[in-house]
Amino acid sequence: MRDIEIYPTRAELMEAAAERLVTLTERAIKARGLCTVVLSGGSTPRELYTLLSQEPFVSQLDWANLHVFWGDERAVPPAHPDSNYRLAADALLAKVPISPENVHRIPGELAPADAAIAYERVLRRFFGDAPATQHNALPGLSVPHALFDVVLLGMGADGHTASLFPGTTAVLERDRWVVPVAVRQLDAWRITLTPPVLNAARQILFLVAGAEKAWTLAQVVTGPYQPEVLPAQAIEPEAGTLLWLVDAAAAVYLDAGMSVS
Ligand code: 6PG
Repeated sequence: MRDIEIYPTRAELMEAAAERLVTLTERAIKARGLCTVVLSGGSTPRELYTLLSQEPFVSQLDWANLHVFWGDERAVPPAHPDSNYRLAADALLAKVPISPENVHRIPGELAPADAAIAYERVLRRFFGDAPATQHNALPGLSVPHALFDVVLLGMGADGHTASLFPGTTAVLERDRWVVPVAVRQLDAWRITLTPPVLNAARQILFLVAGAEKAWTLAQVVTGPYQPEVLPAQAIEPEAGTLLWLVDAAAAVYLDAGMSVS
């Protein structure tokens, strides 16, 4: 199931995303006692994190029962200015009563291949699967049904999401949960969750703002399916739901009929 909500301004989009997150986390905690949330990097999520660190949202979130993970990381140590962990830590986690045991970051300070193996192990341990010792020994497509409760994603103007970039094999990965990615366009390494793991989420929220993403967004949503070119198209939850939260600037090329907000 896929839905799109369009908000007149960026600020209204952020408010709506924060409210949605509160509702989703409440629902998960009520049903299962805890809520697992995947954070992303980028400037759009940063605005959301700042909002969540403030009232009324900060008091509405049950921090003791929230566990945070990351969808991707840059190959840098956690204190590095490019670190996605640091972004969320500075804008949100350092300002709220979350315990360090509930924060599960990708170890970007390791060599990318090792970081991917280590994080996959963290995920499998958390979600109850046997820890992996060697990535090629992992059973194929062994993602348990319904993994994360909420996955927050951004989308780049090139159609990338998490660190699934156009032209990289990570987009086509079917077995591993986490992979290292050499991003030629950035001349850099990233570590990313793969489509099967992201698609095992109960709820995926895509946050997209800004006119520079409008054309790509229309291609991703209404264009032919070509995930190697537009990796955001690879995000299709198997049993969960996908919600695009978009501002008007990013929505200009979407059909008017899609607007439900
Ligand atoms: C990252 C991301 C990435 C990001 C998009 C959107 O580490 O860069 O996780 O997928 O979410 O590039 O970023 P902006 O909101 O900055 O455009």
